[in-house]
Amino acid sequence: MVSLKHESLHAGIVDPEMDSMRILSETALRFPDALSFSSGAPYDGNHDLTNLSFYIDRYIKHLRDSGMPEQRITRLLFQYGPVNGFIQDEVALMLKRDENIDVPAEAIMITHGFQEAALVALRGLFSSPDDVLLAVSPAYVGIRGAARMLGITVRGITEGPDGMDPEDVAAAARAVRAEGKRAVALYVVPDFSNPSGTVLPLQARERLLEVAAEEDLIILEDNPYGLFARDGESKPTLKSLDTDQRVAYLGSFAKSAFPGARLGYLVADQPVTDATGSTRTLAQVLSKAKAMFTVGSSTLSQAAIGGILVENDYDLRSATRELAAVYIERLDATLAALAEHFPPERSAEHGVRWNTPRGGFFLTITVPFTADLAAMERSARDYGVSWAPMNMFYIDGGGDREIRLGFSNLTPEAIREGIARLARFIGETPRD
Ligand SMILES: Cc1ncc(COP(=O)(O)O)c(C=O)c1O
Repeated sequence: MVSLKHESLHAGIVDPEMDSMRILSETALRFPDALSFSSGAPYDGNHDLTNLSFYIDRYIKHLRDSGMPEQRITRLLFQYGPVNGFIQDEVALMLKRDENIDVPAEAIMITHGFQEAALVALRGLFSSPDDVLLAVSPAYVGIRGAARMLGITVRGITEGPDGMDPEDVAAAARAVRAEGKRAVALYVVPDFSNPSGTVLPLQARERLLEVAAEEDLIILEDNPYGLFARDGESKPTLKSLDTDQRVAYLGSFAKSAFPGARLGYLVADQPVTDATGSTRTLAQVLSKAKAMFTVGSSTLSQAAIGGILVENDYDLRSATRELAAVYIERLDATLAALAEHFPPERSAEHGVRWNTPRGGFFLTITVPFTADLAAMERSARDYGVSWAPMNMFYIDGGGDREIRLGFSNLTPEAIREGIARLARFIGETPRD
């Protein structure tokens, strides 16, 4: 009988830190009786089974209306499809309407979520062991995990209350160069980051683009939460401000449509010229990587998301206004409950502080004890409330006394009860 040693497997499998994505998605299942602030699962109150077939039918009708012959439609949905997908035209229209991002369909690759877009972009852009990825820290676990699985070194750039400082990015790129290495790309979530909920101010966005040009960096802009701003508070994406194709934009339909579709996209309009002198977009060239990871993306998911786009006239920003209001109500309920249980004027006594994002799915709390996985499990088991330890998100360590609260899939009532439970847990946990 074969018996494999765990330590003999790839570092990405052996490293316990790489379990964070699974832990975050499975905590709610492991502690079914606890109120879960542990994930960024979207609100599921409007998920309706009849919608699935409706949207797929809507997309098929759209193809018929466009004059596509029946046999071709059948082939498109049942057969292996084009590797880069078949709803790029619809996504291009959506990007123009929602974000004022103007790119041709051939600059878009439809992927299995943000996660595959990140894997494909990293695989293509990082060619030498000396290539380094700069990433905001703390960061979404998916980017560090994708880099680790590909053996890519990541350097963290610590963010402040307004996200990362572009001058820190420039300094980090120079420091990497001084070591004889090359900073190739920068990962950032400018709108309502995960885990902190920070938003990069407009001036910093403009400066970040200048720094990217000065330091020859590609910016990997990840934007799953940008639609969920308060009215009138949306900021232009880096990609919409990008005049010299510095930005590759990684999109996801997980929060704007539904995560089970596992659908996202990579916008990579950078021209790539080969040895014969012919030029294609980076998205077209990276098709080779996508083909070897997953071949094409699910045709059913593309049809369902395509149907949602067509039905909403390619305007997901308008289509998600009610949803955005749901999330903002939940954020406000979380902030109000925190202020009630931890009065700011008594912060010296209770030792609890938190940030106050303007939107998104997450906020972070600082507590006066080590808030690791063991503490979270005690909180879930004995107090009926789960959350995410922030140390999972820091690139180079840190966040040991910080908690991420994801409030997106709890009603305001459940949020009030959950924060009351959290207050009991925090009040009864000895300081260390
Ligand atoms: C920062 C960030 N990027 C991307 C995603 C979505 O990724 P995917 O499309 O792979 O579900 C999430 C979801 O939690 C996220 O928080």
